[in-house]
Amino acid sequence: MASIGDKFKKINISKLRFFKAKDLLGVDLGSTAIKIIQLKGSPGRWSLVRWAYLPLPNAGPDVGAPERKTQAVNLLKEFVIKQKKNAPKAASFSVSGNSVIVRYVKFPKMAKDDLAKTIQFEAEPYIPFSIPEVNIGFHIIGDVVDEGQKKMETILVAAKKDLIGNRLDIIKQGGLSPVVIDVDAFCIENAYDINRAANMQDTVLMVHIGASVTTMSIIEGGVSKVVRDVFIAGNTLTKAIQRNFQCDAKQAEEKKANAALLVTPEEREKAMAEENKEALQMSTVMLPVVKDLLSETHRSLDFYLSQGTDRQVTRILLSGGACRLKNLVNYFAQELHMPVEIFDPLAHVEGAKAIPQDLRPLFSIAVGLATRRDGDSE
Ligand SMILES: Nc1ncnc2c1ncn2[C@@H]1O[C@H](COP(=O)(O)OP(=O)(O)OP(=O)(O)O)[C@@H](O)[C@H]1O
Ligand SMILES: [Mg+2]
Repeated sequence: MASIGDKFKKINISKLRFFKAKDLLGVDLGSTAIKIIQLKGSPGRWSLVRWAYLPLPNAGPDVGAPERKTQAVNLLKEFVIKQKKNAPKAASFSVSGNSVIVRYVKFPKMAKDDLAKTIQFEAEPYIPFSIPEVNIGFHIIGDVVDEGQKKMETILVAAKKDLIGNRLDIIKQGGLSPVVIDVDAFCIENAYDINRAANMQDTVLMVHIGASVTTMSIIEGGVSKVVRDVFIAGNTLTKAIQRNFQCDAKQAEEKKANAALLVTPEEREKAMAEENKEALQMSTVMLPVVKDLLSETHRSLDFYLSQGTDRQVTRILLSGGACRLKNLVNYFAQELHMPVEIFDPLAHVEGAKAIPQDLRPLFSIAVGLATRRDGDSE
């Protein structure tokens, strides 16, 4: 299957000019595990060079940010030491969550360089943070006519400097050199893009469910049209299990990994016939959280569909660690009445068999980051 990648979303939220690097590591700084991918090649012909899955030793929902930061720095240091001397030090990383704003804005038509010079001023009306507090990046999608005027549709991104600073610290103290800062949702778009057949113009909803945040994006013909983060994810399930079973986070994680949602009447009847109280209770505890996530999914779909009568979403692709919850795919498919699949961001990457199949959906963001190159946003 041919894939295209000539219109990668090339957003960079900060000017980072350390050195000109050809190869870089895509480093996804998750709150429970760091995921690293290095790819070589070019759009349509990517192959895997290096990968790492580095879980934080102590990653429960109640572990504070400073402790997570120390653990992440140590994991990166260990990773860097283990690599051969010629391994790249340049890294791309990304941000998401409350401190990141993504807006679709129609600016008057102007040269990219001119927008770059005036972006602080132009962006101000669209950003709910004070401008000195944020770093700003943008990506011009293309020309549009708006109320008879020629304009250019642009994706505007603002990320709070404290969030970026915290991540820069982790990357630098870990022994790497940051060269690109991206946004989780656009990394997922780029990961989708390298696995998409050139002629595939369908619209998909990507739902990347991590531990602390779920990133949803609706990608139409390869371009994200709706991008949002919701704060219902793996930790929400873990906390519900902790509360109900009066157990600690570690035990709750174990229970979650072994449990399944009981989706069909037959599954529930079977658990009842076997008097499998744990299975029934686990499903009962997890279902309200999953229903909340489903409502948010509906909101994303409704928002997109309300923008035009010809709009249609054909598939939902799940990724992120929490998409491994047993039967989640079936539950989503049953409730949303459309095909739901697990997304493999490495399906069209040569040599990716080295990564176990069940870990691959966790690498969506790292794969997207690994397609970036120093200076590609210029
Ligand atoms: N087999 C499984 N069943 C259910 N949940 C799972 C399973 N494996 C992992 N998870 C959950 O996936 C989450 C971790 O996924 P991931 O590595 O994508 O998150 P993260 O990137 O560290 O978090 P975030 O990006 O939200 O900060 C945890 O909440 C974990 O409990
Ligand atoms: Mg994550």
